[in-house]
Amino acid sequence: MSTHHEERKVLITGASSGIGLATARLLTSIGHEVWGTAREVHRLPAMERFHPIRIDLNDTASIRSGFQQAEQEAGEISVLINNAGNVINGPLEALAAEALQSQMETLFLGPLELMRLALPGMRRRNTGIIINVTSLAGRFPIPFNAGYSSAKAALSVATECLCLELTGTDIRVVDFSPVISQRTFSGARACCGDRFAKPMSLTAGSRGWPRRRNSARPLNLASRLMSFSACCATARRRRL
Ligand SMILES: NC(=O)c1ccc[n+]([C@@H]2O[C@H](COP(=O)([O-])OP(=O)(O)OC[C@H]3O[C@@H](n4cnc5c(N)ncnc54)[C@H](OP(=O)(O)O)[C@@H]3O)[C@@H](O)[C@H]2O)c1
Repeated sequence: MSTHHEERKVLITGASSGIGLATARLLTSIGHEVWGTAREVHRLPAMERFHPIRIDLNDTASIRSGFQQAEQEAGEISVLINNAGNVINGPLEALAAEALQSQMETLFLGPLELMRLALPGMRRRNTGIIINVTSLAGRFPIPFNAGYSSAKAALSVATECLCLELTGTDIRVVDFSPVISQRTFSGARACCGDRFAKPMSLTAGSRGWPRRRNSARPLNLASRLMSFSACCATARRRRL
């Protein structure tokens, strides 16, 4: 997805804020068409080459209808970026089953459903890129983050499996595992205590947690995501 590539039709989830919004801005600015999702379309930006789509990853019917709408409008989805996410925090023994279920839907089952929807078209054309935004928390687990870390680890492993299953095709699969961006876990930490086990936006509400000077910003992560994907798109086969 470099500046010199042909125009691509990109579906990116979680385009209303953070990394998703920064990536959508970058992609449209270099000529790609972007279908960006959020749970409420009014939260999505109005900009050239950007097409708002409603998807709630905790609702399979909304995932299917959102994907279908994007595919119909685009003609084809050549790049799928599973970016949307939230965090549910709290000590493992206090996490309600419903909260864990919700976290798995948002971070694992929802993205899997989108991959299942995107892959038939990609297989027909024998080309496409799937980028799953996971997290280093899936590899280096963080206490009081068991639901998030486990769901991200599950998506990472599924990404590796898919990569192997697509051997011999020209469909590329990327596991993009960012470190903590400037604002992320500030909001997450604020969730501990009597409010734990509630999902919250990763970058929302940076109350009471000192900002880290050296941590990455959403725009930097978006740039890295794009250059990483460009390498992937040009490589014959790459283990990522
Ligand atoms: N920021 C970091 O430091 C960091 C580090 C490692 C990994 N990551 C990963 O990077 C991705 C983006 O993080 P971010 O910091 O940019 O997050 P963010 O600013 O909080 O944005 C999250 C996006 O996901 C959407 N979203 C949340 N829950 C959803 C649901 N149930 N269904 C559909 N959409 C939902 C939100 O849309 P609405 O709320 O408008 O619906 C929003 O657009 C996440 O997968 C996160 O786990 C981030």
